Amino acid sequence: MVESGNVYYLLGAGSAVGVTLYLARNHIKSVLLNNNKTKSEQSSTEKVPKKGKYHSDANAPPPEPTPLYITPEQAKTRDDRPWRPFRFPYHQTMSIFKLDVNHWLDMDKYYYQYIKEKERVYHSYGSDNIGSLPGSEEACLELMEMVKHQMITRYPLLFTSEDDYIHVKNELTGEILDFSLPLKEDPLVYVSKMAKEDFYVVLKGDDGIHRLMAAAVPFPGGSFGIKYKLGKTLDVIHTEVPYYETKLKPSMEKWFAKMSPADLVERASWYISWDHRLLLNNVYALAEGDKVQSDVQPTEFNVRVERQTLRRLPKSNAIIFTNHPVFYSIEEMKDEPLVPSLIRKIIYEAPEGIIKYKHFDSFRDHILPYLDSLVERQIEKGLITAETPVKTLPTYPFAHFMKDGDAETGWSNPLYPNNYSEQLKKEIIEGQKMEVEVYKRQEMV
Ligand code: HEM
Repeated sequence: MVESGNVYYLLGAGSAVGVTLYLARNHIKSVLLNNNKTKSEQSSTEKVPKKGKYHSDANAPPPEPTPLYITPEQAKTRDDRPWRPFRFPYHQTMSIFKLDVNHWLDMDKYYYQYIKEKERVYHSYGSDNIGSLPGSEEACLELMEMVKHQMITRYPLLFTSEDDYIHVKNELTGEILDFSLPLKEDPLVYVSKMAKEDFYVVLKGDDGIHRLMAAAVPFPGGSFGIKYKLGKTLDVIHTEVPYYETKLKPSMEKWFAKMSPADLVERASWYISWDHRLLLNNVYALAEGDKVQSDVQPTEFNVRVERQTLRRLPKSNAIIFTNHPVFYSIEEMKDEPLVPSLIRKIIYEAPEGIIKYKHFDSFRDHILPYLDSLVERQIEKGLITAETPVKTLPTYPFAHFMKDGDAETGWSNPLYPNNYSEQLKKEIIEGQKMEVEVYKRQEMV
């Protein structure tokens, strides 16, 4: 199971190339730093998006990102947009929003850790989490170019070059990526070294059916290895997803039929666990019927938001689906009006299939007294009343303080600024034995 396939070596290689080309980088940085934000940058990122009921002309080009001149130092303290994708009533729907291209691949203070964790996952589990099938070569190369273009255009101070982007230095990890041909590594490895998102590459076959043809997915969160999904149709991949056949599939197929390279959308789903790990969370490591251990503190519970995007590549026509986990502790959201009430309601009253899929019953009774106390606290503080209807937030899918941030400074929670980096490091080390056990269990099924 644990293997040291080619990917191990691909990830390790390439960093020493061209170091001497980069000595004058500081000069370029200082020129760039003096530039102000463009108009579209100022206006494009601070809005709550509109629901995406639209389609562009099939030949419309993909939108271009605008530069965001944040330095590596700024990136290290920056928070991403604050997701609060809690819906009630909770129906399984596509729930997609138009995506501002500037947010296709986001940047925040956890970037370095996510990239390093990708490296560890690939080194430990190889083809379980990264792979491609014949027929996806063109799409993977196009994806690599698209990701490279996005990162160097959007974050010019974080991805720098002195030879017209044949070599690109990732200023946050220090690695220099060599894009000269022939490529030294698998295109999916380049993608994984630039962006912290997981990537799925979907192609439509001659039979008109969409299949997953390539993927770099180090952060599934649940216990599924991507090698079992490669070559599978979207229907098969979503077999376990509640209400897929009736509620999701028909809208997805309609959406894909009209989706042009200019139509970018995003969505967010979520679940709860009592850790911050990226590869495998405690809630999905439990064996069937097991419950959270009684000594876990309720304050350790986090919402893991799965922030997802969809776009089409113009040349290969591939659909690119990204997924990106972001954690928010219930504790840090405790003074956001209605959030504890919504979480409490959803874990008990969501449709049965969703409660089961997200394993809510493995921990909900354990955190109920804590959630009750938070709701009571909100009533005492006058943030809500006992009569306030518990329904989707007016600022859905974001927190109310979304309006107070911007792309340059980020969107830190003003009451409870949070950084779980140290905790994550510890949890990753502690979780390694559990990972191997769960993977073994999965292989035996
Ligand atoms: C187009 C490429 C897509 C791929 C490759 C993909 C892949 C996946 C995978 C691997 C899972 C986990 C399944 C499991 O638990 O075994 C999943 C879950 C799910 N997918 Fe997709 N998906 C895609 C598109 C979509 C779209 C367009 C939607 C709806 C708009 C969607 C909705 C869901 C939902 C609701 C779940 C259950 C987990 C959650 O609540 O997010 N997927 N998907």
